[in-house]
Amino acid sequence: MRHAMKTLAAAVLATLSLPAFAETVASVASPNGTLRVELDIDDGRMGYRVFHAGKPLINTSRLGFLFQNVEQLQRDLAFTSKATRTFDETWEQPWGERRLTRNRYNELRARFTEKINARRAIDVVFRVYDDGLGFRYEFPDQPQFKDVRITEELTEFDVARPSTAWWIPGGEWNRYEQVYNTTPLTEVGRAHTPMTLRTEDGVYVSFHEAALVDYSGMWLTRVEGRRLKAQLSPGSEGWKVRRTAPFNTPWRTLTISDRAGGLVESSLILNLNEPNKLGDVSWVKPHKYVGIWWSLHLETQSWATGAKHGATTAETKRYIDFAAKHGFRGVLVEGWNPGWDGQWFANGYGFDFTKATPDFDIEALSSYAKQRGVHLVGHHETGCAVSHYERQMSQAFAMYARLGVDAVKTGYVCDAGQIERQEVAGGPVLREWHDGQWQANHHLRVVQEAAKHRIAINAHEPIKDTGLRRTYPNWVSREGARGMEYNAWGNPGNPPEHEAMLVFTRMLAGPMDFTPGVVSLKGRNGLIFHSTLAKQLAQYVVLYSPIQMAADLPEHYEQRMDAFQFIKDVPVDWEDTRVINGEPADFVTIARKQRKSHDWYVGAVTDENARSLELPLAFLDAGRRYEAQIYRDGEGADWKTDPHALVIEKKPVRRGDTLTLKLAPGGGQAIRFKAL
Ligand code: NOJ
Ligand code: CA
Repeated sequence: MRHAMKTLAAAVLATLSLPAFAETVASVASPNGTLRVELDIDDGRMGYRVFHAGKPLINTSRLGFLFQNVEQLQRDLAFTSKATRTFDETWEQPWGERRLTRNRYNELRARFTEKINARRAIDVVFRVYDDGLGFRYEFPDQPQFKDVRITEELTEFDVARPSTAWWIPGGEWNRYEQVYNTTPLTEVGRAHTPMTLRTEDGVYVSFHEAALVDYSGMWLTRVEGRRLKAQLSPGSEGWKVRRTAPFNTPWRTLTISDRAGGLVESSLILNLNEPNKLGDVSWVKPHKYVGIWWSLHLETQSWATGAKHGATTAETKRYIDFAAKHGFRGVLVEGWNPGWDGQWFANGYGFDFTKATPDFDIEALSSYAKQRGVHLVGHHETGCAVSHYERQMSQAFAMYARLGVDAVKTGYVCDAGQIERQEVAGGPVLREWHDGQWQANHHLRVVQEAAKHRIAINAHEPIKDTGLRRTYPNWVSREGARGMEYNAWGNPGNPPEHEAMLVFTRMLAGPMDFTPGVVSLKGRNGLIFHSTLAKQLAQYVVLYSPIQMAADLPEHYEQRMDAFQFIKDVPVDWEDTRVINGEPADFVTIARKQRKSHDWYVGAVTDENARSLELPLAFLDAGRRYEAQIYRDGEGADWKTDPHALVIEKKPVRRGDTLTLKLAPGGGQAIRFKAL
């Protein structure tokens, strides 16, 4: 009797403290057991839940679809079969923030089949890692379900605990270029991914997607409480995605860590992408570049032809000479082609990508560059007339390849987040969202066409990164957040916390062409930056990209040759990356080891608060002597009052030493550890 009472009490307790779960039909844990996923069927509906360290992290959340042409797929389902598998391999990135990546997961494939109607089947596949998980739907080949027109993906994420969220609005006209919000999860509206959360008990979670191919980008809408739902970016033809089965969706991903830095160190997104499809990609060269760019944003020069035209033969030669003298591989020139005169925003039909303006001698300039070991970096601004661009793309890349241009920056500047699709020249124009299925496919058409010409792509106003650089390593970088340009004309400019925010949000998707290093620290008409000079240097380490611009004007660098030395030295391709410390939107310190070298580089940035951060030098090679070349905020440095105060000092250090980094308000610090 006493025993029975005890059991009853325990059962009551269990019902009180745990959410009511429907029957678990299958489950899978990560290799070390930290994460566990359970799938269930509740009254014919599929659901999943996630446990982290034994506690619910995602409460039972629904799965399923609505379609335009056929009945929904979310009810009257039965669990019919499952398969499991384990996987463990280490693969090498041709370029990257680290060279070797371990891809180790346990996989569960579950099949659900309709009990009524057409008896359609759908597979849900989970890959569970120690640092996160991905799941996707696979639509099998079945005669009764071929033409799939998705109007709604019903995937939900019901977060189990109160959390803080770092996020930007999804589905807005300015794409991904908003100032980030820090709010309780319960104040999120509709957000882009990556979106980052910290639960009240200190678990960090990043929601995103991997391998966005021939599908529409996913936003997250908060339905109620802490429950988020996938919302697919729309398409002009009424459905959000149209596919022919068999096919699979992108992976819906959760990167999970006890440390904010663990999110940055995770390779989950890359691991969930397909391996390199391009074969030998030794022609993709990580590099630094300068260019006719900042002057355009300052409006001291113009994209348009005329007296202020930046892209002239003489001016380009000046940049080529500067690049050659200081060891930069690339020179970007914007405004080199016809189409920039008049209004080009959302009006790209005037752009010609195979001709230069008369004052830009492209043939002479490319051989001038070649003689000096420099490469012109191409520029294709579409003004969002995307089909118009596609019609010229192949010839345009062929011309660039002939001229030795092996990296091209593309651009999709439009007024309303919508790009233009015009299947036939002169025909009707459809407006597609910048992250809908059609535009997702467009970006891959560009990358694949460019690869045929051995050209690397850096897209501005792009679709978000979902790790496709693994599959197409010539997709080297992109914008997709507020970059440096907002410090030239932004209203407001980028806030002091911007870099520390990007590291834990946008950068979790992949590299960003932020265009760092504006040492003059002034925008249009003297607009001031929310940054010290030392922070501009730290950006090169903190904000990863295999191509990095030295964005300021040559004459500004000539005035700060001391600081410029770090920009000249810092590499762009890394053997390893470690996050030493950091909190989203507050501060971060990152250490990276240069490839084929013993040198390490460290960047630290802070928000509006001054900080003192310990940097234990545990990462340096044992037994090796290093010279720390330190670029730090000087006495009294402050983004508001004295942003230029910089101290450069050198000291001998070795593994086991600890440095204390003192960061000014809006400040930072950059260090080269040169192996002796
Ligand atoms: C926006 C890009 O982000 C910027 O870098 C470029 O200069 C302009 N578009 C013009 O293409
Ligand atoms: Ca932009």
